[in-house]
Amino acid sequence: MITKNIQLAIEALQNNQLIALPTETVYGLAANAYEESAIKKIFELKKRPLYNPLIVHLHSQNQLEQVAKDIPEKALMLAEKFWPGSLTLVLKKKPHIPDLVTAGKDTVAVRVPQHLMALALLELLDFPLVAPSANPFGSISPTSAAHVYGYFKEDLPVILDGGDCSNGVESTIVGFNGDTPILYRHGAVSVEEIEDCIGPIELITHNDTSPDAPGMLSRHYAPKTETHLVENINETLGQFSGKRVGVLSFTELFNPQDVVAQEILSPKGDLKEAARNLYAALHRLDAQNLEIIIAEKFPNKGLGITLNDRLQRAVKKNINEKMVFTK
Ligand code: TXA
Ligand code: MG
Repeated sequence: MITKNIQLAIEALQNNQLIALPTETVYGLAANAYEESAIKKIFELKKRPLYNPLIVHLHSQNQLEQVAKDIPEKALMLAEKFWPGSLTLVLKKKPHIPDLVTAGKDTVAVRVPQHLMALALLELLDFPLVAPSANPFGSISPTSAAHVYGYFKEDLPVILDGGDCSNGVESTIVGFNGDTPILYRHGAVSVEEIEDCIGPIELITHNDTSPDAPGMLSRHYAPKTETHLVENINETLGQFSGKRVGVLSFTELFNPQDVVAQEILSPKGDLKEAARNLYAALHRLDAQNLEIIIAEKFPNKGLGITLNDRLQRAVKKNINEKMVFTK
C-alpha cells in the first residue's frame, strides 16, 4: 500500500522539488539523481559548495549497473555483505550521471539504504535519488524529522517522518584505486567490519583544499556553541568554572552542580547506542545557550573511531576551505 505521504513525496520529486527522507544513518535531502534543475536546489538550500559530490541512493544492488561500471570484485563483496545498509561505494560512473552529482569526477558514490520507508519510496520511483544529509553545510546532521524541520521549516514541501535514525551517523565511504580499497570516510560500519570482509583498507590522506571526500573537511558536523574534545571531562571542568558548561560523555554521570546540562550517550558503554544518540545530544546541547560544550573522547576502536572523527570536526574553529556557492 502506498501511503498518502509517500504519494506526496513521489509527486514532489516528479516535479523536481526536494523532499526530506529518513535513512538508517541520518535524514537525507533528496532529489531526482537525473534532473540537474532539481539537484541544483540541493546545493542552494544547503549552501553546499559545488565541489562536494553527492551520494546516489538505489533500491537494490540490481540497479548498480545503471550508474556504475568496471566494478572491482571487492566492491561487489562489500555490496553483498552490507547492502541494504550504511556503506557507500565510490565507483567508476556511467556517462549519463550528471556532473553536478559527481562534482565533475569520473566516479560516483552509491548506496542502498536500509530504512524501510526510504526503500519503499525508491522502489516506487523510476529514477534513483541523490541525498546529502538534510542540514545546512557544516552543521550537525539530522537524525529526526524534527531536526530537519528546525533547519528548513517551510522550504521543504515534504518531510517524510520515519522516526529516529537507528544508526545515527553517516555511512562509511569506501572507494578504490584500481583494485585497492580506500577508506574515504569513517561511518556507521566500522573499519574492522570492512576489513573482516575484504582485508586491509588504506586511509585516504586528508586534504582540505582539494578534498577527495569532503566528508573529510576538517570543520563539519559542528554545533554553534564552542566545543572542546578532551580525554577527561573531570580534569577539564575547572578551567571553565563560572561559565555555562554542558558536557557530552560516553558513560559518566556528572554532579548537576558542576554542569548546566549533560548528555550521557550510553550508560552501559555500548558504542552503537552512543552513535545513535550523538547528533540528537549535540542538537539538544546546542539549543541551551551554553558557553562551552565539553565532549569526551571515545575508546579508539570500532565505532569509537567514527565518533571521535565527528567530534574532532565539530571542535575545529576555522573554516579554511574555499567556499564556492551556486547562485
Ligand atoms: O549516510 C549517508 O551517507 C547520508 C544519508 C542521507 O545517505 N548521506 C550523506 O551525504 O552523508 P553527504 O552529502 O552529507 O556526504 C556525502 C559524502 C561527501 O563527503 C562526499 O564528498 C562523498 O560523499 N562523495 C560523494 N561522491 C564522491 C566521489 N565521487 N568521490 C569521493 N567522495 C564522494
Ligand atoms: Mg553531510
